[in-house]
Amino acid sequence: MSAAVATEARPRRLGRGERPIRIGVIPGDGTGPEVVEEALKVLEAVREGFDVQLERLDLGAERYLRTGETLPDEELVRLAGCDAILLGAVGDPRVPPGVLERDLLLRIRFELDQYVNLRPIVRYPGVRTMIPHHADSDVDMVVVRENSEGLYTGGGGFHRKGTPQEVAVQESINPRHGVERLVWYAFDLAMRPDRRRKLTLVHKTNVLTFAGDLYRRVVDEMAMAFPEVETDYVHVDAACLYLIEDPARFDVIVTDNMFGDILTDLGAVIQGGMGIAAGGNINPHGVSMFEPIGGTAPSETGKHTINPLAAIGALLLLLEELGLDAAAERVDRGIRFAVSKMSSMRAGQMGFDTAEVGALVIEGTTT
Ligand code: IPM
Ligand code: MN
Repeated sequence: MSAAVATEARPRRLGRGERPIRIGVIPGDGTGPEVVEEALKVLEAVREGFDVQLERLDLGAERYLRTGETLPDEELVRLAGCDAILLGAVGDPRVPPGVLERDLLLRIRFELDQYVNLRPIVRYPGVRTMIPHHADSDVDMVVVRENSEGLYTGGGGFHRKGTPQEVAVQESINPRHGVERLVWYAFDLAMRPDRRRKLTLVHKTNVLTFAGDLYRRVVDEMAMAFPEVETDYVHVDAACLYLIEDPARFDVIVTDNMFGDILTDLGAVIQGGMGIAAGGNINPHGVSMFEPIGGTAPSETGKHTINPLAAIGALLLLLEELGLDAAAERVDRGIRFAVSKMSSMRAGQMGFDTAEVGALVIEGTTT
């Protein structure tokens, strides 16, 4: 597919009532369809002053097993024509590991140039987590994870594969331009009214002396353009420790693709679990895609036990990105209401089934 389609600029904030908002929906695999269904019910409940046109895409394991296709070009073109995308989850034990991840999920992220993976780590009031000493207010940060480069580009290869002398090389690609636009996004985010104007770079500069050095220099240079933002640096291993010991020190974290992937699973733990962790793959000038970050949960599939709040949180991020603030605010209220009634964020332990949690959110949007 041509980069021209993927990077075609579009206004990020939509005018109200001008035309329906086109949302690409990829329910995907495992529990993806169940949680997406609840998010769409919530969308219908909070939709006021704008119309929505859903573009449902049949992508994921079933399609791959049926036709051998992961992401045909015409589907990518359809996605590129949407205002935003809501994704359930992809991955299936019947498909070799890496196929759907690389050729579907990562391909969308790369082709639509969604260079920021935005992962808020927020603990809603009343959520119980595994860390008893955290207060709700201690856990309120956003991870700005690089989303199209680093170790994820697939650069590298084998030498003498299958022999005792085999060498596997996996390259981390860090273009200055990519680091700059990421770090700019993070500084800009730190300046938004709901943030605390603190930016922490997380990397491993003591070992990754090339990539880490580039990130460090870019942050230091850009800091001059954002004098109100306090900057900090933490090695990634220490960042894991601080997420547990002192999460309140973090406001906006900016980090590379792989570190961000790992850190945000730990981040989900201090939010209350994968059941509530949502993220956005953002192209600030293009089409962004929103997803619960927990994956397909094969052991819960079809049991009506999965927590839909992460998918509903993904919807919230989608509405915010499109500037539909009133609807977003209602979804936020709905999530808070649901959380206050649930006994846990974990699948099967919520005190409600999947659809009942969705209904609680809808009830809460009107209170
Ligand atoms: C995530 C996932 C993906 C990633 C996988 C499925 C490729 O773990 O969104 O965090 O590593 O980015
Ligand atoms: Mn991950």
